[in-house]
Amino acid sequence: MKLNVAIICGGRSTEHDVSLLSAKNIYDAIDRDKFEVSIIKIDEGGAWHALSSIDQLASPGRPQEIQTSDGRSRARGDRHNVLATASRPAFAERVDVVFPIVHGAFGEDGCLQGFLKMLDIPFVGADVLGSAVGMDKDVMKRLLQQGGVPTPRWLAIHRKHRAEASYENVVGLLGRSVFVKPANGGSSVGIAKATSEMEYIRAVEEAFLFDDKILVEEAVVARELECSVIGGEHPRASVLGEVIPTGGFYSYQAKYIDEKGAILAIPADIPQETAALIRETALKAYEILCCSGFARIDFFLTECGDVLVNEINTLPGFTSSSMYPRLWEATGVSYPSLVTQLIEGALQRHLAKKRLRYSYHHSQTANLGEDVNGNDPQVGLL
Ligand SMILES: Nc1ncnc2c1ncn2[C@@H]1O[C@H](COP(=O)(O)OP(=O)(O)O)[C@@H](O)[C@H]1O
Ligand SMILES: [Mg+2]
Repeated sequence: MKLNVAIICGGRSTEHDVSLLSAKNIYDAIDRDKFEVSIIKIDEGGAWHALSSIDQLASPGRPQEIQTSDGRSRARGDRHNVLATASRPAFAERVDVVFPIVHGAFGEDGCLQGFLKMLDIPFVGADVLGSAVGMDKDVMKRLLQQGGVPTPRWLAIHRKHRAEASYENVVGLLGRSVFVKPANGGSSVGIAKATSEMEYIRAVEEAFLFDDKILVEEAVVARELECSVIGGEHPRASVLGEVIPTGGFYSYQAKYIDEKGAILAIPADIPQETAALIRETALKAYEILCCSGFARIDFFLTECGDVLVNEINTLPGFTSSSMYPRLWEATGVSYPSLVTQLIEGALQRHLAKKRLRYSYHHSQTANLGEDVNGNDPQVGLL
């Protein structure tokens, strides 16, 4: 019997549209001999919709609303979400495994992963902790630093300490040329380079639109290299790719809008020993940052040969121009085979977790699914 895979896409973050493109590519690549596929789109308001056809991704039309288990469907933007009913939502009964490809806040930060865990549904990619750690660039960098993996020098500024982060202070610590970014962001949204006080003030203003915590980083002069990692127990690293932005830095525009905004060189033209060091560092970062399933690790390679981790993406893009699948293709893993491996990895991890005990009172907890009358357990029982 075929397994039912649900691709969850869209979401409330600034990367909603990118997610839809990723979902379309995954949908097209899934091996239909092994899997049945359905698509669940989270709209910008947070409401979940089961799409009856892939075409609705491009022009959403009137998507079908997800039915909650008591048969009530939720209105658009209903804040109670699918948890409006205490019991397991109906869709959870039909789904064997989820491929969540919701980039950014609520999708890549552990929220969606926690929700799926509560429903006991296997899912592709990092678990709650790995997702959360990878999403917050400040926490990510602190862990990397502690693990001995170099990353550009930075300052994290919380909104409440904003006054202390004057340009003068920043220049004293990091130099005149800095990057300002929201701590929890992606696709370069809210990121700007600043080389003067005026640019800095504007960049800080902009970044605080997206987060309560921002990062100011030394701007490094370096080549940008990316490495794809897959796996649980024994992760593997792909060949490297290089991103060569044609103007300024690798902005949202260069990533998705302007086809000539960046050149992707696959494999990257760098010495073998450097490539080996970067792949090794990618696997180290993957472990330090509590990843599982897959991730893309992005690097800076400076002129003097220093290798720095820029960031990790625990739900990397899967658009047709995205590095993650393209790097695997260049390593010898086709797109369909990659998607199959990711889904099978999710199922294996879920099964492995079942071996763990969560309580000493096993006989008591084993029956929590229903009470003697077959009703759902009440919160009070827990
Ligand atoms: N410290 C830095 N020095 C030089 N360039 C940077 C630095 N930080 C970010 N950039 C540029 O900005 C781009 C986006 O930054 P990144 O931290 O990767 O954010 P996102 O998560 O949005 O992709 C990078 O790909 C790079 O081109
Ligand atoms: Mg990036």
